[in-house]
Amino acid sequence: MRVIVVKNYEEVSAKASRFVLSELWRKPNLVLGLATGATPIGLYKNLIKAYKEKRADFSDVKTFNLDEYWGISEKAKESYHYFMKSNLFSQINIKRENTNIPPSKSESAEIAGENFERDIKQSGGIDLQVLGIGSNGHIGFCEPGTSFDSRTHLAKLSEETRVANSKYFSSFNKIGFEKKTSQMPTHAITMGLGTIMEAKKILLLASGKNKAKAVAEAIEGPVSTRVPASILQWHSDATIILDEEAAFYLKSNYKSPLLFAEGDIELLTKNDLPRKKSIVVISPHPDDASISLGGTISMLSKNNKVFVAVMTTGYRSVVSGKSIHEIIKIRENEAKDESKVLGTKAIFLRSEFYDAKNFEDIVKNDIKKLLNNFEKIKPDIIFLPNKKDSHPTHKISRDVALSCVEKYKKIHGGVFEIWEFEGPWSMFGERDFNTIVAYGDDILKNKMRAISLQKSQIERTRFDIAAKSLSQLRASVVPEQAMVGYGAKSPNFGKYFELFRISSV
Ligand code: F6R
Repeated sequence: MRVIVVKNYEEVSAKASRFVLSELWRKPNLVLGLATGATPIGLYKNLIKAYKEKRADFSDVKTFNLDEYWGISEKAKESYHYFMKSNLFSQINIKRENTNIPPSKSESAEIAGENFERDIKQSGGIDLQVLGIGSNGHIGFCEPGTSFDSRTHLAKLSEETRVANSKYFSSFNKIGFEKKTSQMPTHAITMGLGTIMEAKKILLLASGKNKAKAVAEAIEGPVSTRVPASILQWHSDATIILDEEAAFYLKSNYKSPLLFAEGDIELLTKNDLPRKKSIVVISPHPDDASISLGGTISMLSKNNKVFVAVMTTGYRSVVSGKSIHEIIKIRENEAKDESKVLGTKAIFLRSEFYDAKNFEDIVKNDIKKLLNNFEKIKPDIIFLPNKKDSHPTHKISRDVALSCVEKYKKIHGGVFEIWEFEGPWSMFGERDFNTIVAYGDDILKNKMRAISLQKSQIERTRFDIAAKSLSQLRASVVPEQAMVGYGAKSPNFGKYFELFRISSV
């Protein structure tokens, strides 16, 4: 079980949609198991958005829903047929005949169940099953006590489930609790636990306090029919995405892995980037931020606070005929102009290590200076030169930043995301990165404008050309070499890439 804890429902939905989309990009004829209820609505909204932005194509996708109320009209607003149509199917290009939901009525529930199982089998089996979880630990409508080898069957709804779901029966909302539940269906037809466990991958989502107990029992308790979701502990590829409220009773500290699996490469477009975060970009010299990650910063600054910590003055980069003081001024002004274009705020550290020979004490001062800024900014995400970057100024800047992160964590706790970047002077090897940020012409234009403002530098070395070429090169070689399944149906990611290695500390 891979447990990922994120802040809130919005982040659960964002992470979940990235998970589903990367499966879809790898396999355009994905067989997708779907759930209903409040939890997956955010995921479905994101999938619709991806479809509208031409990042997702559902024309070859097949779906199988977990369950349906028994005896209800499939046209009724409370039915899961209606739910799926209005929350997803009518807004994407899925073929009606490729969607499967257990019937709400049939002469024989047993035959209906067998037919449903046969259809799943004929489709080649479910590649990815999305699940929610009931506050009593149910998945699908497999209530506590359901046998682990159950198949699609008619299930009696527990009292807890009937109470929880009576809120969706809008027509009964204004009447008393007793009546409300008494008008709710008493049964549902649902995939069995055996059916669910046969899906190749599982993605369970949970959000909110009322799920916290069931989530803790499912993930950390014994595997038991008392908590049906606990069976997922036996699945070989189950991912659980929780928000902080739903994760409340978990004993282990799940250090929110940023990726779904080691070895995966995640592709992020502008909609997938973090939001509402405080971000510090460690720029060893005044021009490194724009050259290395100007595209990513341009996009991040729209929804986040982005500070560029310019670690050194960079006065040694020749500007002929000027004094050191004048050069520093020129370079810092260039960085300030750049920050207007990128939407960032530049902070000038003027680190002393830049001039030091024996610098242990001096580095301590530099760490202190950066730490003071961290105290004000309270960063969530730090961008750093990558580990293999051997340029001394980059290397020390990285070390200073990492020591600072360590010290900050000792005082305040918490988890940082570290995004290591590459640049024309230190490119990632084939397996050094795990994340791609893709963008189009508009963003590239902004990046190039920012770099062009670093006049003193591009006059001596064409970093602008190098940066542009690297973005183009990455976009043309990375998919073939490192990513699976990008064929003729590749969605429209954008023409340029910047690469990162993301980890958390
Ligand atoms: C829905 C389903 C149920 C729900 C669960 C949580 O198809 O099978 O297991 O996932 O009851 O419902 P919400 O998300 O409404 O809290």
